[in-house]
Amino acid sequence: MRKNKEKDHFMSEQPQVIRREDYTAPAFLIETVELVFDLDREATTVTSRLSFKANPDRATGAGDQVVLDGEDMKLLSVAIDGTALAASDYQVDATSLKFNAPSDQFVVEIQTRISPVNNTRLEGLYVSQSAYCTQCEAEGFRRITYFQDRPDVMATYRVTINAPRDSCPVLLSNGNLVSSTDLDDGRHQAVWDDPFPKPCYLFALVAGDLACVEDSFNTMTGRDVALRIFVEHGNEDSCDYAMDSLKRAMKWDEDVYGLEYDLDLFNIVAVSDFNMGAMENKSLNVFNAKYILAKSDTATDTDFELIESIVAHEYFHNWSGNRVTCRDWFQLSLKEGLTVFRDQEFSSDERSRPVQRIKDVQRLRAGQFPEDGGPLAHPVRPDSYMEINNFYTATVYQKGAEVIRMMHTLLGTKGYRKGIDLYFERHDGQAVTCDDFVRAMEDANGVNFDQFRLWYSQSGTPNLVWNGEYDAKQQTYRLTIEQKTEPTPGQVIKSDLQMPIKIGLLGRDGDELLAQTIDLTLGKQEFLFEDIAQEPVVSFNRDFSAPVNVGTTPSHDDLAFLMGNDTDAFNRWEAGQKYASDLLINAVKAFGQSGNADEALGDVDAFCNALRATLTNDDLDKAFRAQAMILPGEAMLSEQLQPADPEAIYQVRQAMRRKIGLSLQDEFEAAYRNNASNDAYSPDATSAGQRALRSVALSYLAATGESVFVDLALEQYRTADNMTDRMTALMVLNDQDHPGRDEALADFESRFASNTVVIDKWFSLQAMSSRTDTLAQVKKLMDHPAFTMRNPNKVRALVGAFAMANQRNFHVADGSGYRFYADRLMELDDLNPQVAARLAAPLGKWRKFDEGRAAKMKAELNRILAKENLSRDLYEIASKSVA
Ligand code: ARG
Ligand code: ZN
Repeated sequence: MRKNKEKDHFMSEQPQVIRREDYTAPAFLIETVELVFDLDREATTVTSRLSFKANPDRATGAGDQVVLDGEDMKLLSVAIDGTALAASDYQVDATSLKFNAPSDQFVVEIQTRISPVNNTRLEGLYVSQSAYCTQCEAEGFRRITYFQDRPDVMATYRVTINAPRDSCPVLLSNGNLVSSTDLDDGRHQAVWDDPFPKPCYLFALVAGDLACVEDSFNTMTGRDVALRIFVEHGNEDSCDYAMDSLKRAMKWDEDVYGLEYDLDLFNIVAVSDFNMGAMENKSLNVFNAKYILAKSDTATDTDFELIESIVAHEYFHNWSGNRVTCRDWFQLSLKEGLTVFRDQEFSSDERSRPVQRIKDVQRLRAGQFPEDGGPLAHPVRPDSYMEINNFYTATVYQKGAEVIRMMHTLLGTKGYRKGIDLYFERHDGQAVTCDDFVRAMEDANGVNFDQFRLWYSQSGTPNLVWNGEYDAKQQTYRLTIEQKTEPTPGQVIKSDLQMPIKIGLLGRDGDELLAQTIDLTLGKQEFLFEDIAQEPVVSFNRDFSAPVNVGTTPSHDDLAFLMGNDTDAFNRWEAGQKYASDLLINAVKAFGQSGNADEALGDVDAFCNALRATLTNDDLDKAFRAQAMILPGEAMLSEQLQPADPEAIYQVRQAMRRKIGLSLQDEFEAAYRNNASNDAYSPDATSAGQRALRSVALSYLAATGESVFVDLALEQYRTADNMTDRMTALMVLNDQDHPGRDEALADFESRFASNTVVIDKWFSLQAMSSRTDTLAQVKKLMDHPAFTMRNPNKVRALVGAFAMANQRNFHVADGSGYRFYADRLMELDDLNPQVAARLAAPLGKWRKFDEGRAAKMKAELNRILAKENLSRDLYEIASKSVA
């Protein structure tokens, strides 16, 4: 007995590893699901009626064991074909319910009891503010009722919701509303029916007292679809942009992919408590409120952009994810990589394509490259996991989207569309694999992607080095490219990958001599270009056509030339980033000796002149110019240093900003003046670009250290009529030692006290301040009445931002930042393990830092690993990170 207990304890510390190669089709299929919910905050009863059928692909049937997943609920009864099972006829434990199949086809009725109000994990059915809502992806449905909780079990659902009419006037589930009825005792009932077979992770239920904003969309075949957004009362005026984005996304999917919406209604619900961004439940998308609610005075231009892209992303899942879903969770990128690519392209078409590409690449580099080079590296299609929620990663999403993008580049727009058409034609209604997707691309185009498939199975970012040789006599240019991928944990041997590399050869006068996409397949490969009349400047990997690191750094002269002359806008920006990185990295190294950042940087006039040329080039889009002024971030610079000294990086980057501010002061002052707007705020890309350029100007002016510019920021704060201008000013003030900082922060707090989405900006800002009292402030803010560890947005805004967006203070040499952070992760682990695990990555970066910091970070990881009742989620991240 005692021995057993110890064994159980040990087992719970070493969660089971699930492997892709172990996949087997389900023994039984479930064809229809009928659910009845009797909603109650403390004790909700769920009655489920499931029609089972032996899987014809498996030799199963009568007598075989049926295993259903289930967690954290009370089993009230089980009946098969109308007869209640005796306790001896089934086995139930902490994670499953098992019984033997009576025949090849049978109906199981199960009653369970769950407690939504005590569900702090926010998986399954829970309460957010006053409403009930669900989150079932990836494995939340097993917290509602016993079920085969896996995406390859697809059924049609009929859902009955019974709830008090006064507290829950709105009752929603997937599909069509079949009936609404009044019941006794002030309760009422709604019945929903979803005709499309779906996996249980797409099930959703919402019930509460919510306000509704309505619109409609007329589809390509002339059907009217009712569109509804449900929000907390009082937020009705903050849904316009989300609704407009939805309609544009619906139209875009018809125009670009030929895909039409398939039901007569589409509902979105915004809730304040949500683990991730949003969820694509069939016809009932549930959103984190921060990605729906926006008005000019509450949301920044970036917020508007995010809302547009996430509303589109979830809508696009209706085809890429719902109509065709994943066979198993290892195939997650099948729907996520494809859907991210789709939303990126939508945003590119709606806004500036080059600026969108720059932002997508920045995100890939900031999130995915470090992941792929660190202890949590995994392929786009992972081979194993302990907790699937830990694999909703930058690799599965962002790198997965890059893989789709490369196929698009290799096949061309038409070829890609042929592949897409075949994919949906072949697999509509099925649960399939990444390989099925690639096969559709191959078959539709008559190509072989055997080598290309390695992008799904091989982790790590390839490093490319190129060399050029000009032959003046032959008028030829020989380009040699080498690729190499470093080993990653568990994957030592790497193969050469196939990738499209877009290049341009530019003449010194700026003329484009050649523009071409080359197909790189070898470890070392030569390309010969003929009729090249002069020695060219090379523009390599244009538009970031392959998601790789390029180790070759052209001369500063060539980089300045490309900044001003490249015909590929992305590479203009990229040349500036490369130039800046080279100067900053060298200066950080020199700073180690002198301790003087200005000296370490030396003369940067040539770089400033190149920036000036961009800033004042009126032919360039303002949003692009603003992007081009921004230096690589501190974390990005860390990635290029070993070890990285966070304080040196901070000092050098600030010194560079000051030099740029002083050198371009006149131009920035002019940009600030000339880009003021008298028009009412509009979130469109052009207006946003103008504001971005003005913001960059203000921020560089303040970087000069002249107090007049801090006064200017305070003035901007006081007179701002939109959140973008207000936040820009506040961000400048936030790093200052100036009474204006306190004034502005206090004003912001009282102005937005009642707006939970906006107050998160106020928490984040303070957590991201470069001031040395930041950790003390963060600790104090944890006691603020608006802060709670139970709300993921609050935790991310204050605690998460401190570790993820404040390199200088998180990494203070005494380790106090690490200690504070590990304490919060352990506290959170008891409430919401999924969010705790998602926040844990920063401590895993210890290899990047000096011995002192590395030891302190590892010590915190070990402290986490020693925690009692450590979740499987956090165990997986911490144990892999410490190794
Ligand atoms: N499928 C959602 C999306 O990307 C993500 C939700 C995943 N949630 C989770 N808890 N793992 O659109
Ligand atoms: Zn998604």
